[in-house]
Amino acid sequence: MEKKTIRDIDVKGKKVLVRCDFNVPLKDGEVADDTRIRAALPTIKYLTENGAKVVLCSHLGRPKGEVNEKYSLKPVAAKLSEELGTEVKLAGDVTGSSAHEMAESLKEGEAELLENVRFDPREEKNDDTLALELSELIGSDGIYVNDAFGTAHRAHSSTEGVAHHVETSVAGLLMEKEISELGAVLESPEEPFIAILGGAKVSDKIGVIENLLEKVEKIEIGGAMANTFLKAKGYDIGSSVYEKDKVETAKDLMKKAIDKGVEIVLPKDAKVARIPAGEELDSEKIEAAEHKKVKLYTEKEVEEGKAESLDGWQILDVGEKTLEHFAIDLEGARTIVWNGPLGFTEAPSFAHGTEAIARYISAGKARCVIGGGDSVAAIQKIKRKAKENGEDTKQFSNIYLSTGGGASLEFLEGKELPGIAALDDAEKTVKKTNTPASRSMQQEK
Ligand code: 3PG
Repeated sequence: MEKKTIRDIDVKGKKVLVRCDFNVPLKDGEVADDTRIRAALPTIKYLTENGAKVVLCSHLGRPKGEVNEKYSLKPVAAKLSEELGTEVKLAGDVTGSSAHEMAESLKEGEAELLENVRFDPREEKNDDTLALELSELIGSDGIYVNDAFGTAHRAHSSTEGVAHHVETSVAGLLMEKEISELGAVLESPEEPFIAILGGAKVSDKIGVIENLLEKVEKIEIGGAMANTFLKAKGYDIGSSVYEKDKVETAKDLMKKAIDKGVEIVLPKDAKVARIPAGEELDSEKIEAAEHKKVKLYTEKEVEEGKAESLDGWQILDVGEKTLEHFAIDLEGARTIVWNGPLGFTEAPSFAHGTEAIARYISAGKARCVIGGGDSVAAIQKIKRKAKENGEDTKQFSNIYLSTGGGASLEFLEGKELPGIAALDDAEKTVKKTNTPASRSMQQEK
């Protein structure tokens, strides 16, 4: 169902509460990656340029309902001010006197930011009293805009509850773009359609695989989740990380894929590091360990002495043969969806597979949607390098980088996200009954 957006309404002179996803990484008290902030700028600029009084709201991290300076949105307010070229003040609280004073004093075309909404313990409980308080900041003719696609899978007071307390709840421009890009991949993909899935856990991707089995031709699997599939197929994965309790699930998914005529493509070779099983993995330890490239063999082949066991070694990236194979498949693809890295990308020696595939896709013609922090970061790194080398970055125009991690996964699972569901449909007919405007009309009767 299409949602109403800020372009469908008149915002001039109105107070507008905009839920953004400013959950960004910080380093030494500063924003370390401003991708999500820049992604929110079109909505903020549209609203301010059209005379709205903008109250911005976001969470940052998981402060567990307590005020914690470490998670203050101060660095975000500073970055926003820098990017907008005008000061964005930060309120000292979420819905307290500071937030009210600032909202009251806003002039047309100005924007302010509330403090981290997760400082309030009611937020994650989707407590209606907080939702009501948020709506009161913008008054009875206020507008709610959800532009936080990255948090749209959470039913919280500021992402879902508040929409029930205002007369008009619409999508921001980022939310609109995300719905249209991810929606197009699921609803009308040009074929051949191929999925690439990586990351640590099969358990995070079961729903996505099941949904994609209905739509794609092939699923290429890398990352630690491939180890569970390899184990299920009887391969020797040595001391690699895998999910023991998901081996049967992997078997079941591979059987379903055969029934649906979908090919699941697994690694044929790998880059491994000599690290005993069960050790906590970190990039320093991985870089310091011995590395080698190996072909993968079944446990039976190892038992028969046809290959050396990988005991004491961990698979941390896909190998060259695998990449060649993946690339041949991707060459003919018209649509690609990718979620999760193919290796342990924090360790530079094991980032090659992810970067190679990112580069390969960027040089191709398929429409590609990428979600999930690490795979998105890989593309951004390549883009940055290309820019530094004076290359034409137009080559990346076939790739859409989603700002959603968990949200993009749930979207690809085919789930309805609560933060989107709560917004007004494009042809809104239903009158809401619990908004300040409807309540005052009832009182007047
Ligand atoms: C994200 O980074 O995926 C979103 O901001 C949601 O954050 P959360 O997982 O803490 O709810």
